[in-house]
Amino acid sequence: MQGSKLMTNGAAGFQSRVFSGMQPTHTLHLGNYLGALTRWVEMQATHECIYCVVDMHAITIQHDPADLTRSIREVTAAYLAAGVDPKRSILFNQSQVAEHAELTWVFNCVARLGWLNRMTQFKEKAGKDRENASIGLYDYPVLMAADILVYKATHVPVGEDQKQHLELTRDIAQKFNNDYSAAIAARGFGEQFFPLTEPVIGGPAARVMSLRDGGKKMSKSDPSDYSRINLTDDADAIAQKIRRAKTDPEALPSEEKGLDARPEADNLVGIFAALKGATKQQVLDEFGGAQFSTFKSALVDLSIAKLSPITAEMRRLLADPAEIDRILCDGADRARAIASATVRDVKDIVGFVQKR
Ligand code: TRP
Repeated sequence: MQGSKLMTNGAAGFQSRVFSGMQPTHTLHLGNYLGALTRWVEMQATHECIYCVVDMHAITIQHDPADLTRSIREVTAAYLAAGVDPKRSILFNQSQVAEHAELTWVFNCVARLGWLNRMTQFKEKAGKDRENASIGLYDYPVLMAADILVYKATHVPVGEDQKQHLELTRDIAQKFNNDYSAAIAARGFGEQFFPLTEPVIGGPAARVMSLRDGGKKMSKSDPSDYSRINLTDDADAIAQKIRRAKTDPEALPSEEKGLDARPEADNLVGIFAALKGATKQQVLDEFGGAQFSTFKSALVDLSIAKLSPITAEMRRLLADPAEIDRILCDGADRARAIASATVRDVKDIVGFVQKR
Protein backbone atom coordinates (compact mmCIF):
# COMPACT_ATOMS: atom_id res chain seq x y z
CA MET A 1 0.00 0.00 0.00
CA GLN A 2 1.69 3.17 -1.14
CA GLY A 3 0.26 6.24 0.50
CA SER A 4 1.81 8.64 -1.95
CA LYS A 5 0.11 6.96 -4.92
CA LEU A 6 -3.25 7.24 -3.25
CA MET A 7 -2.85 10.88 -2.38
CA THR A 8 -5.07 13.18 -4.41
CA ASN A 9 -5.28 16.94 -4.66
CA GLY A 10 -8.24 17.12 -2.30
CA ALA A 11 -6.11 15.66 0.45
CA ALA A 12 -2.95 17.55 -0.49
CA GLY A 13 -1.47 19.44 2.42
CA PHE A 14 -3.04 17.07 4.91
CA GLN A 15 -1.10 14.51 6.86
CA SER A 16 -2.00 11.09 5.48
CA ARG A 17 -4.25 9.31 7.98
CA VAL A 18 -6.44 6.21 7.73
CA PHE A 19 -9.79 5.80 9.47
CA SER A 20 -12.21 2.91 9.25
CA GLY A 21 -14.95 1.32 11.29
CA MET A 22 -17.28 -1.64 11.58
CA GLN A 23 -20.62 -1.93 13.26
CA PRO A 24 -20.89 -4.19 16.29
CA THR A 25 -24.09 -5.83 15.14
CA HIS A 26 -23.45 -9.51 14.62
CA THR A 27 -20.44 -11.75 14.78
CA LEU A 28 -17.84 -11.00 12.14
CA HIS A 29 -17.34 -13.46 9.29
CA LEU A 30 -14.76 -14.47 6.69
CA GLY A 31 -15.89 -11.67 4.37
CA ASN A 32 -15.11 -9.06 7.02
CA TYR A 33 -11.77 -10.73 7.68
CA LEU A 34 -10.53 -11.09 4.08
CA GLY A 35 -12.30 -8.01 2.74
CA ALA A 36 -11.51 -5.52 5.47
CA LEU A 37 -9.45 -6.64 8.46
CA THR A 38 -6.46 -8.03 6.55
CA ARG A 39 -6.15 -4.72 4.73
CA TRP A 40 -6.52 -2.69 7.90
CA VAL A 41 -3.69 -4.71 9.37
CA GLU A 42 -1.52 -4.17 6.28
CA MET A 43 -2.11 -0.41 6.25
CA GLN A 44 -0.63 -0.10 9.72
CA ALA A 45 2.81 -0.60 8.15
CA THR A 46 2.52 2.51 5.98
CA HIS A 47 -0.04 4.81 7.62
CA GLU A 48 -1.17 6.30 10.87
CA CYS A 49 -4.39 4.32 11.42
CA ILE A 50 -7.49 4.84 13.54
CA TYR A 51 -9.91 1.90 13.79
CA CYS A 52 -13.28 2.29 15.39
CA VAL A 53 -16.09 0.08 16.62
CA VAL A 54 -19.03 2.23 15.53
CA ASP A 55 -21.46 1.46 18.33
CA MET A 56 -23.50 4.65 17.82
CA HIS A 57 -24.32 3.47 14.31
CA ALA A 58 -25.49 0.16 15.78
CA ILE A 59 -28.38 1.78 17.67
CA THR A 60 -29.92 3.26 14.52
CA ILE A 61 -31.90 0.03 14.25
CA GLN A 62 -33.53 -1.94 17.06
CA HIS A 63 -31.04 -3.72 19.25
CA ASP A 64 -30.75 -5.65 22.45
CA PRO A 65 -28.49 -3.80 24.95
CA ALA A 66 -26.78 -6.94 26.27
CA ASP A 67 -26.09 -8.14 22.72
CA LEU A 68 -24.62 -4.76 21.84
CA THR A 69 -22.22 -4.82 24.80
CA ARG A 70 -21.11 -8.35 23.94
CA SER A 71 -20.76 -7.48 20.28
CA ILE A 72 -18.59 -4.39 20.93
CA ARG A 73 -16.12 -6.60 22.82
CA GLU A 74 -16.33 -9.35 20.21
CA VAL A 75 -15.59 -7.03 17.30
CA THR A 76 -12.73 -5.48 19.26
CA ALA A 77 -11.36 -8.96 19.93
CA ALA A 78 -11.61 -9.75 16.21
CA TYR A 79 -9.66 -6.59 15.27
CA LEU A 80 -6.97 -7.50 17.80
CA ALA A 81 -6.83 -11.19 16.87
CA ALA A 82 -6.50 -10.30 13.18
CA GLY A 83 -3.48 -8.15 13.98
CA VAL A 84 -4.62 -4.60 14.67
CA ASP A 85 -1.94 -3.36 17.05
CA PRO A 86 -3.45 -1.09 19.71
CA LYS A 87 -0.06 0.49 20.44
CA ARG A 88 0.77 1.42 16.91
CA SER A 89 -2.80 2.29 15.86
CA ILE A 90 -5.73 3.79 17.73
CA LEU A 91 -8.48 1.27 18.51
CA PHE A 92 -11.62 2.47 20.29
CA ASN A 93 -15.41 2.51 20.35
CA GLN A 94 -17.17 5.55 18.95
CA SER A 95 -19.52 6.33 21.86
CA GLN A 96 -16.57 7.05 24.18
CA VAL A 97 -15.52 10.03 22.09
CA ALA A 98 -18.34 12.58 22.35
CA GLU A 99 -16.81 14.73 19.61
CA HIS A 100 -18.27 12.39 16.95
CA ALA A 101 -21.77 13.41 18.05
CA GLU A 102 -20.81 17.08 18.42
CA LEU A 103 -19.42 17.31 14.92
CA THR A 104 -22.45 15.43 13.58
CA TRP A 105 -24.68 18.28 14.75
CA VAL A 106 -22.65 20.86 12.86
CA PHE A 107 -22.64 18.60 9.79
CA ASN A 108 -26.42 18.17 10.07
CA CYS A 109 -26.58 21.87 9.42
CA VAL A 110 -24.20 21.61 6.44
CA ALA A 111 -25.65 18.53 4.68
CA ARG A 112 -28.81 19.04 2.59
CA LEU A 113 -31.98 16.99 2.73
CA GLY A 114 -31.66 16.35 -0.98
CA TRP A 115 -28.28 14.72 -0.48
CA LEU A 116 -29.53 12.35 2.20
CA ASN A 117 -32.65 11.52 0.21
CA ARG A 118 -30.39 9.96 -2.41
CA MET A 119 -28.68 7.51 -0.03
CA THR A 120 -29.41 4.02 -1.32
CA GLN A 121 -28.38 2.24 1.87
CA PHE A 122 -31.03 4.14 3.85
CA LYS A 123 -33.67 3.12 1.33
CA GLU A 124 -32.62 -0.52 1.60
CA LYS A 125 -32.44 -0.54 5.38
CA ALA A 126 -35.63 1.41 5.94
CA GLY A 127 -37.53 -0.84 3.54
CA LYS A 128 -41.18 -0.19 2.83
CA ASP A 129 -42.04 1.27 6.20
CA ARG A 130 -39.90 4.38 5.82
CA GLU A 131 -42.12 6.52 8.05
CA ASN A 132 -41.22 4.25 10.90
CA ALA A 133 -37.41 4.31 10.42
CA SER A 134 -35.43 6.14 13.10
CA ILE A 135 -34.07 9.61 12.40
CA GLY A 136 -30.73 8.14 13.41
CA LEU A 137 -30.90 5.70 10.50
CA TYR A 138 -31.56 8.60 8.14
CA ASP A 139 -28.69 10.57 9.66
CA TYR A 140 -26.32 7.57 9.65
CA PRO A 141 -24.21 8.88 6.74
CA VAL A 142 -23.70 12.25 8.45
CA LEU A 143 -22.42 10.54 11.59
CA MET A 144 -20.13 8.52 9.34
CA ALA A 145 -18.78 11.74 7.79
CA ALA A 146 -18.13 13.09 11.29
CA ASP A 147 -16.30 9.85 12.25
CA ILE A 148 -13.92 10.39 9.39
CA LEU A 149 -13.51 14.15 9.36
CA VAL A 150 -13.14 14.66 13.12
CA TYR A 151 -9.71 13.06 12.52
CA LYS A 152 -9.24 14.76 9.12
CA ALA A 153 -8.65 11.26 7.76
CA THR A 154 -7.40 11.22 4.16
CA HIS A 155 -8.03 7.54 3.37
CA VAL A 156 -10.86 5.20 4.31
CA PRO A 157 -10.64 1.49 3.43
CA VAL A 158 -14.24 0.33 2.88
CA GLY A 159 -16.30 -2.00 0.75
CA GLU A 160 -17.88 -1.00 -2.54
CA ASP A 161 -21.24 -0.53 -0.78
CA GLN A 162 -19.85 2.43 1.19
CA LYS A 163 -18.74 4.45 -1.83
CA GLN A 164 -21.83 6.65 -1.80
CA HIS A 165 -21.31 7.47 1.87
CA LEU A 166 -17.73 8.51 1.11
CA GLU A 167 -19.00 10.79 -1.66
CA LEU A 168 -21.33 12.38 0.85
CA THR A 169 -18.39 12.82 3.23
CA ARG A 170 -16.53 14.72 0.52
CA ASP A 171 -19.60 16.83 -0.26
CA ILE A 172 -19.94 17.78 3.39
CA ALA A 173 -16.23 18.61 3.68
CA GLN A 174 -16.36 20.71 0.53
CA LYS A 175 -19.48 22.61 1.54
CA PHE A 176 -18.06 23.30 5.00
CA ASN A 177 -14.80 24.52 3.42
CA ASN A 178 -16.79 26.79 1.07
CA ASP A 179 -19.47 28.08 3.43
CA TYR A 180 -16.93 29.05 6.05
CA SER A 181 -14.05 29.93 3.74
CA ALA A 182 -13.61 33.43 5.15
CA ALA A 183 -13.54 32.26 8.78
CA ILE A 184 -11.25 29.38 7.82
CA ALA A 185 -8.80 31.70 6.09
CA ALA A 186 -9.01 34.31 8.87
CA ARG A 187 -7.95 31.70 11.38
CA GLY A 188 -4.97 30.70 9.33
CA PHE A 189 -6.19 27.29 8.13
CA GLY A 190 -5.62 28.16 4.47
CA GLU A 191 -8.23 27.20 1.91
CA GLN A 192 -9.35 23.87 3.22
CA PHE A 193 -10.17 22.99 6.77
CA PHE A 194 -11.29 19.43 5.98
CA PRO A 195 -9.58 17.14 3.45
CA LEU A 196 -11.58 15.54 0.64
CA THR A 197 -11.26 11.98 1.86
CA GLU A 198 -10.60 9.14 -0.57
CA PRO A 199 -12.12 5.68 -0.25
CA VAL A 200 -9.64 2.82 -0.61
CA ILE A 201 -11.57 0.04 -2.34
CA GLY A 202 -10.32 -3.29 -3.61
CA GLY A 203 -7.67 -5.60 -2.24
CA PRO A 204 -6.99 -9.31 -2.33
CA ALA A 205 -10.51 -10.67 -1.75
CA ALA A 206 -12.58 -7.54 -1.38
CA ARG A 207 -15.73 -9.47 -2.17
CA VAL A 208 -16.31 -12.78 -0.46
CA MET A 209 -19.60 -14.25 -1.60
CA SER A 210 -22.17 -16.41 0.19
CA LEU A 211 -21.35 -20.13 0.34
CA ARG A 212 -24.96 -20.85 -0.68
CA ASP A 213 -25.24 -18.39 -3.57
CA GLY A 214 -22.23 -17.10 -5.49
CA GLY A 215 -24.25 -14.08 -6.64
CA LYS A 216 -24.76 -12.67 -3.13
CA LYS A 217 -22.22 -11.15 -0.77
CA MET A 218 -21.33 -13.12 2.36
CA SER A 219 -23.42 -11.31 4.92
CA LYS A 220 -24.16 -11.30 8.61
CA SER A 221 -27.83 -10.79 7.84
CA ASP A 222 -28.25 -13.89 5.65
CA PRO A 223 -30.76 -16.15 7.44
CA SER A 224 -28.71 -19.28 6.64
CA ASP A 225 -25.67 -19.72 8.86
CA TYR A 226 -24.33 -22.08 6.18
CA SER A 227 -23.89 -19.07 3.92
CA ARG A 228 -20.95 -17.75 5.93
CA ILE A 229 -17.95 -18.73 8.04
CA ASN A 230 -18.08 -16.81 11.30
CA LEU A 231 -14.89 -15.83 13.08
CA THR A 232 -16.27 -17.68 16.10
CA ASP A 233 -16.83 -21.00 14.25
CA ASP A 234 -14.80 -23.96 15.44
CA ALA A 235 -12.92 -26.33 13.11
CA ASP A 236 -15.88 -28.72 12.77
CA ALA A 237 -18.27 -25.95 11.79
CA ILE A 238 -15.78 -24.56 9.25
CA ALA A 239 -15.31 -28.02 7.70
CA GLN A 240 -19.04 -28.69 7.50
CA LYS A 241 -19.86 -25.35 5.93
CA ILE A 242 -17.18 -25.71 3.25
CA ARG A 243 -18.20 -29.30 2.45
CA ARG A 244 -21.81 -28.16 2.05
CA ALA A 245 -20.92 -25.05 0.03
CA LYS A 246 -22.75 -24.84 -3.26
CA THR A 247 -20.72 -25.78 -6.36
CA ASP A 248 -21.40 -26.85 -9.92
CA PRO A 249 -20.82 -30.33 -11.40
CA GLU A 250 -17.73 -29.44 -13.49
CA ALA A 251 -14.11 -29.98 -12.48
CA LEU A 252 -12.06 -26.88 -11.75
CA PRO A 253 -10.72 -25.05 -14.83
CA SER A 254 -7.01 -24.57 -15.46
CA GLU A 255 -7.34 -20.93 -16.51
CA GLU A 256 -8.86 -18.04 -14.59
CA LYS A 257 -11.23 -17.15 -17.39
CA GLY A 258 -12.81 -20.59 -16.98
CA LEU A 259 -14.30 -19.22 -13.73
CA ASP A 260 -16.21 -16.49 -15.54
CA ALA A 261 -19.74 -17.90 -15.54
CA ARG A 262 -19.19 -20.01 -12.43
CA PRO A 263 -19.76 -17.72 -9.43
CA GLU A 264 -19.55 -20.46 -6.76
CA ALA A 265 -16.33 -21.93 -8.15
CA ASP A 266 -14.92 -18.42 -8.52
CA ASN A 267 -15.77 -17.61 -4.90
CA LEU A 268 -14.16 -20.74 -3.44
CA VAL A 269 -11.02 -20.29 -5.55
CA GLY A 270 -10.94 -16.62 -4.49
CA ILE A 271 -11.19 -17.54 -0.82
CA PHE A 272 -8.43 -20.13 -1.20
CA ALA A 273 -6.21 -17.59 -2.96
CA ALA A 274 -6.80 -14.88 -0.36
CA LEU A 275 -6.17 -17.21 2.59
CA LYS A 276 -3.01 -18.49 0.94
CA GLY A 277 -1.79 -15.09 -0.22
CA ALA A 278 -1.66 -16.37 -3.83
CA THR A 279 -3.43 -15.43 -7.07
CA LYS A 280 -6.42 -17.34 -8.39
CA GLN A 281 -4.30 -18.47 -11.32
CA GLN A 282 -1.72 -19.94 -8.96
CA VAL A 283 -4.51 -21.85 -7.21
CA LEU A 284 -5.76 -23.15 -10.58
CA ASP A 285 -2.21 -24.13 -11.58
CA GLU A 286 -2.38 -26.49 -8.62
CA PHE A 287 -6.04 -27.58 -8.78
CA GLY A 288 -7.07 -27.21 -12.44
CA GLY A 289 -8.85 -30.43 -13.51
CA ALA A 290 -9.53 -31.49 -9.91
CA GLN A 291 -13.00 -32.36 -8.63
CA PHE A 292 -14.59 -30.15 -6.01
CA SER A 293 -14.33 -32.92 -3.40
CA THR A 294 -10.51 -32.76 -3.65
CA PHE A 295 -10.40 -28.99 -3.75
CA LYS A 296 -12.79 -28.61 -0.84
CA SER A 297 -10.67 -30.90 1.36
CA ALA A 298 -7.68 -28.69 0.68
CA LEU A 299 -9.77 -25.58 1.36
CA VAL A 300 -11.00 -27.03 4.66
CA ASP A 301 -7.41 -27.69 5.77
CA LEU A 302 -6.21 -24.25 4.70
CA SER A 303 -9.18 -22.46 6.29
CA ILE A 304 -8.73 -24.23 9.59
CA ALA A 305 -4.97 -23.62 9.56
CA LYS A 306 -5.42 -19.89 8.87
CA LEU A 307 -8.50 -19.17 10.95
CA SER A 308 -8.05 -21.28 14.06
CA PRO A 309 -5.20 -19.15 15.47
CA ILE A 310 -7.47 -16.14 15.07
CA THR A 311 -10.52 -17.74 16.65
CA ALA A 312 -8.35 -19.11 19.47
CA GLU A 313 -6.92 -15.64 20.10
CA MET A 314 -10.44 -14.16 20.07
CA ARG A 315 -11.55 -16.68 22.68
CA ARG A 316 -8.51 -15.91 24.81
CA LEU A 317 -9.20 -12.17 24.63
CA LEU A 318 -12.91 -12.54 25.32
CA ALA A 319 -12.17 -14.51 28.48
CA ASP A 320 -10.86 -11.24 29.95
CA PRO A 321 -13.37 -8.51 29.03
CA ALA A 322 -11.78 -6.06 31.48
CA GLU A 323 -8.60 -6.10 29.41
CA ILE A 324 -10.57 -5.41 26.20
CA ASP A 325 -12.35 -2.54 27.93
CA ARG A 326 -9.01 -1.14 29.07
CA ILE A 327 -7.68 -1.21 25.50
CA LEU A 328 -10.82 0.57 24.22
CA CYS A 329 -10.62 3.18 26.95
CA ASP A 330 -6.95 3.89 26.23
CA GLY A 331 -7.73 4.15 22.51
CA ALA A 332 -10.61 6.52 23.23
CA ASP A 333 -8.32 8.81 25.23
CA ARG A 334 -5.90 9.01 22.32
CA ALA A 335 -8.70 9.48 19.77
CA ARG A 336 -10.26 12.23 21.88
CA ALA A 337 -6.99 14.16 21.94
CA ILE A 338 -7.19 14.49 18.13
CA ALA A 339 -10.97 14.88 17.88
CA SER A 340 -11.28 17.56 20.53
CA ALA A 341 -8.77 19.79 18.74
CA THR A 342 -10.84 19.53 15.54
CA VAL A 343 -14.12 20.29 17.30
CA ARG A 344 -12.55 23.26 19.11
CA ASP A 345 -11.45 24.72 15.74
CA VAL A 346 -14.86 23.98 14.19
CA LYS A 347 -16.60 25.83 17.02
CA ASP A 348 -14.37 28.85 16.41
CA ILE A 349 -14.99 28.68 12.67
CA VAL A 350 -18.78 28.57 12.95
CA GLY A 351 -18.69 31.39 15.53
CA PHE A 352 -19.56 29.71 18.83
CA VAL A 353 -18.28 31.22 22.07
CA GLN A 354 -16.18 28.80 24.13
CA LYS A 355 -13.76 28.67 27.02
CA ARG A 356 -10.22 29.78 26.17
N1 TRP B 1 -21.09 2.37 7.39
C1 TRP B 1 -19.93 1.54 7.55
C2 TRP B 1 -20.30 0.11 7.15
O1 TRP B 1 -21.43 -0.29 7.31
C3 TRP B 1 -19.42 1.56 8.97
C4 TRP B 1 -18.83 2.88 9.30
C5 TRP B 1 -19.32 3.82 10.16
C6 TRP B 1 -17.62 3.41 8.77
N2 TRP B 1 -18.48 4.91 10.21
C7 TRP B 1 -17.45 4.68 9.36
C8 TRP B 1 -16.69 2.93 7.84
C9 TRP B 1 -16.36 5.49 9.03
C10 TRP B 1 -15.61 3.72 7.51
C11 TRP B 1 -15.45 5.00 8.10
O2 TRP B 1 -19.43 -0.61 6.70
